[in-house]
Amino acid sequence: MKNLQNILNLTRNHNRFVSESIDLIASNSWISQFARLAMTSSLPNSYCIGLPGNRLYGGCTYIDMIEREVSQLARALFPMKKVVLQFLSGMQANIGAYNAILKPGDTVIGAQAKHGGHYSHNPDGPLRFFSPKFVPMPFDDSCYNIDVQGLAKLMTKEKPKLLIVGWSEFLFPHPLAELRELCDMHGTRLMYDMSHVSGLIAGKTFQPDATTYADIATSSTGKSLHAPDHGMVFFNDDSLEPRILNAVMPLLTSNTHPHELAALGIAFSEMGEFGQSYAEQVVRNSKSIARGLEEEGLKVLYADLGYTESHTVLLEYPSTNAAVALLDRAGILCNACPLPWDSPGVESGLRLGTQVVTWVGKTHLSVALGLKAIEHGYRVLFNTAANMIATLTKALSEGRLEDKLKTYTVPRLLIVDEIGYLPIDQAGANLFFQLISRRYEKGPVILTSNQSFGSWGEVFGDRIADREQVRVVVEDPQLESLKLG
Ligand SMILES: Cc1ncc(COP(=O)(O)O)c(C=O)c1O
Repeated sequence: MKNLQNILNLTRNHNRFVSESIDLIASNSWISQFARLAMTSSLPNSYCIGLPGNRLYGGCTYIDMIEREVSQLARALFPMKKVVLQFLSGMQANIGAYNAILKPGDTVIGAQAKHGGHYSHNPDGPLRFFSPKFVPMPFDDSCYNIDVQGLAKLMTKEKPKLLIVGWSEFLFPHPLAELRELCDMHGTRLMYDMSHVSGLIAGKTFQPDATTYADIATSSTGKSLHAPDHGMVFFNDDSLEPRILNAVMPLLTSNTHPHELAALGIAFSEMGEFGQSYAEQVVRNSKSIARGLEEEGLKVLYADLGYTESHTVLLEYPSTNAAVALLDRAGILCNACPLPWDSPGVESGLRLGTQVVTWVGKTHLSVALGLKAIEHGYRVLFNTAANMIATLTKALSEGRLEDKLKTYTVPRLLIVDEIGYLPIDQAGANLFFQLISRRYEKGPVILTSNQSFGSWGEVFGDRIADREQVRVVVEDPQLESLKLG
């Protein structure tokens, strides 16, 4: 059982590493406790092939009910006539769309990677198995978006069968009304890949009407939606359905992972409940992090356009790969990406996403920050998450990370910053106190806060009052009632 023990240990290590990190990877999602229940239930024990009511194997009574209900929830959040929820990832969902629409030799317009396009939109990805003629999307560097005039000319010339929009670095909404018009003029199908922004669309914040313009909308589910990774394809035209289903089986998978489907349904219902306040806060946090980083002297892109309207912030940075590795060691997770002006093979962009820190919110962020600080035996004195990230990033870039951390040395003092929105539930509260007590058995914790502490304090008020070793220092007069001793 040595290997078993090893794997369990590694898994625990990963859990700990991730829970103590500040996860700014724009394509990560942290699924909720309820969705986790579905993932570790007996649903993954079952084999599930075919459609509800028409499965290849028995034992799917409840799975059928789950799939029907999740399908309704999905179409309520992303209004289109039909949805296929059986793909195991976003890339598979895109393959489903290509299988339904393309014939060899058809022309496809999609964005290149340096313009934010995903690998699966490009001729080196799965598109190549559908033998299309690929034409790169005209791109306007000045607004990090589609160059609509250039596209209009290109479409007149190329008469594409498919136009793929919706990106992996997706800062600003696409001009969908204009794209719809162009597609109607040229008999082109408009595919909107909402993988990155599906949680923001569900939260009615980032072009919430996207599905009303698209002929086909695809999505990965494990990004801003906070579901496990899975794939879905929405469409209105019934004639597409057989070939979308054909892409599931026999092309890509037989078992369609019912546990992921149930977890997805849980994510949908969570989004229905508090998606809008979550999504709005994600965007506020992106802008705030962007501003903070810029104030610290980093080159944040598109300041003139408010930096971003999504969960993603882009920085231009020398030696991004080294920075990503160093930040990883400091427990700050992000990734490098190419920018529009990069030559092939160069990645001068750092992509940060705020969907995770917003979702797990201040609780997690504060804990992560505090744990990191204490682990190093240092005090961290950051007022905002943006300030913290900027300071660390800058220190890293100047090779002064250790020095920087040392300047903040006052062990056992935790200053909790505030960034996030969190629909804090009992599970979140328990986790917070578990972590805090583990680390601070003997010493005081000082929590300080800004305005947004209010709702948080309501949830934690009693618990904070219960613990003598916890002192709350509040800066916000609204929160005086929480002040102890
Ligand atoms: C725009 C876009 N589409 C599709 C995908 C693929 O999703 P998955 O990783 O679930 O296959 C990604 C992943 O990052 C993406 O950014």
